[in-house]
Amino acid sequence: MNAIKKYWKAYKWSNIFAMLSNNKKKPAVCSDRFQGKLVVLTGATSGIGYYTARKYAEHGAHILTINRNKQKSEALCEELQRDFGASCSYILADLSTLDAMHHAADELAKLKEPIAVLIHNAGVFLKRRTLTTDGLETTFAVHYLAPFVINYKLQEKFMRDKTGRIIFVNSEGHRFAAWGLHLDDLQWEHHAYSGLKAYGSAKLAQLLTMHKLADMLKHYGITVNAMHPGMVKSNTGHENDAVYKFFKRNMIDSISQSAEISAQALYYLGVSSEVAAVTDTFFNLTTPEEPAPPALDLDVVPELWDISMQLGKLK
Ligand SMILES: NC(=O)c1ccc[n+]([C@@H]2O[C@H](COP(=O)([O-])OP(=O)(O)OC[C@H]3O[C@@H](n4cnc5c(N)ncnc54)[C@H](OP(=O)(O)O)[C@@H]3O)[C@@H](O)[C@H]2O)c1
Repeated sequence: MNAIKKYWKAYKWSNIFAMLSNNKKKPAVCSDRFQGKLVVLTGATSGIGYYTARKYAEHGAHILTINRNKQKSEALCEELQRDFGASCSYILADLSTLDAMHHAADELAKLKEPIAVLIHNAGVFLKRRTLTTDGLETTFAVHYLAPFVINYKLQEKFMRDKTGRIIFVNSEGHRFAAWGLHLDDLQWEHHAYSGLKAYGSAKLAQLLTMHKLADMLKHYGITVNAMHPGMVKSNTGHENDAVYKFFKRNMIDSISQSAEISAQALYYLGVSSEVAAVTDTFFNLTTPEEPAPPALDLDVVPELWDISMQLGKLK
């Protein structure tokens, strides 16, 4: 009830209309080359991540992906090498586990070359609550905690290299957490779980800590932004039951676009000089947009940050 009172007044119809209008816009295009620059991308074995890896490889970037499936990772690298002559490697990491989050972060921190663009894309949509081997709710772990741990452990590298753009593949779905986060129950132990609420909350948490990370890195020339990649066809939700998959195939996919538009937007946000100085911003594809009121509630950030440090075993 308190949360409803807190945010109710901040909701504006104009914000919703802006989102609906932005949903119809095409992403801006950047056709600059990105020759020899290192691009790190999580979840590149299907959907948005796959098309984005191809887009960067086509423009000359070195691709380093972080995925959970070895066979698919190797197939992707072979494809990028064959189609574009691109340099491609991968780190194997199931980003739902703390060990793998730390392993991926440590491997990236060891890299000599600067990371020009780091895209946090890996994600899941789970109708039913599941727990990871560390006892965390899976949506929270993959969408939110893994990027948090990786960014946190890469801070020093970014500060040293003084270059880089960090991009979260976020979602208009952060609006599902309309009344904010349950900071006392981020793992959905006491509140009724639903796939949409868990998804929205994880994306909301990502937007909230983005504000602090962007602030911490802004004096080092690093930008941190988030984007909604459009409503696009992908493999998302394949872990769910047959009813969900039927609904997804016949309803959602039939009105979804190709994930090529997401890749185009992610290329623009990572490469274009037009957004080189833009940080701490939510984009709908490539249009800057005001997120929902709970995503702008800076009062929540310190506690969320502290909890994330503990859950991520960063203290
Ligand atoms: N599709 C949309 O309309 C839409 C809209 C808004 C936001 N998004 C966001 O876009 C991002 C990409 O989703 P998508 O739609 O492209 O879905 P997708 O086709 O299912 O791709 C998800 C990627 O994440 C990887 N992944 C999942 N769990 C992982 C884990 N535990 N460790 C490492 N990698 C993992 C998957 O690997 P596997 O290949 O091994 O499964 C896959 O490469 C997500 O963050 C999603 O929330 C999508």
